[in-house]
Amino acid sequence: MSLVKISIQDHIACLTINRPDALNAMNMDLIQSLEHAVKECIDDDHVGVIIITGSGEKAFIAGADIKKMKDMDQEQAFNFGKAGQNLTLTIEKSSKPVIAAVNGFALGGGCEISLACHIRIASDNAKFGQPEVLLGILPGWGGTQRLPRIVGVGLANELITTGRMISATHAKEIGLVNHVVPLSELISKSNDIAREILKNGPMAIAKSLDCIRYGMGREIDDGLSYEVASFSSLFEEDESIEGLSAFVEKRKANFR
Ligand code: COA
Repeated sequence: MSLVKISIQDHIACLTINRPDALNAMNMDLIQSLEHAVKECIDDDHVGVIIITGSGEKAFIAGADIKKMKDMDQEQAFNFGKAGQNLTLTIEKSSKPVIAAVNGFALGGGCEISLACHIRIASDNAKFGQPEVLLGILPGWGGTQRLPRIVGVGLANELITTGRMISATHAKEIGLVNHVVPLSELISKSNDIAREILKNGPMAIAKSLDCIRYGMGREIDDGLSYEVASFSSLFEEDESIEGLSAFVEKRKANFR
């Protein structure tokens, strides 16, 4: 049974984490399988948007595998942390938008994987949290870095030090998720957003994500210089000729 199921339809790749008996908790095999699947989709010209979700109705990902972590020494923990960080970096740096379709518990590493995705959509039964401190550890797959960037330092301090779980509605209130929908509509809502994105220029999308990521935590002048270089570089591409001409000719642009 594969740990990550991949289905590709109409330029949308849906990656389903498939370890429902353990609420999709991430062990090393699963980290590597998910990273491999994301890389395959990034390299596949037929894919324009990637959706990550969990199998079953209960969990997106209930965290890193606690049973495995229990027996780790410092070196093994370092390697495990690095592997999780590499996975989240691969997702975050993807040239194709990655949507987290959060269908239940997104805890610890599960919350951190969702934080690395460009867009988060939650089902109404979803629960988010960084409960690592309850276990005497800390978020090691980017949670201490990405959560404050998304919800602000004050809220991140509180969520990480209490380890409290929050509902999907609360997550929306603090800007942690973009939309909350009934579980039965989670994938269709994700597909709707993916289709909206797919109408647009793939290079423009990739470079926009790259500029946003580059600018986070940098001086605005630095980010603006990077932005104008990316902006002007697109004028060398067929994609911008098509997009700009289509507007002037009063027709829809055809990018794919
Ligand atoms: N690592 C390893 N196994 C996990 C897991 C994790 N992070 N989360 C859940 N599981 C396993 C449980 O051990 C259980 O396996 P078992 O049937 O072999 O005992 C199975 O998944 C179902 O979980 P269970 O706890 O029985 O479900 P529940 O509905 O009572 O509770 C949670 C759901 C998510 C609240 C609870 O599983 C939990 O707190 N998980 C850990 C969350 C966490 O701390 N994550 C951060 C890790 S850094």
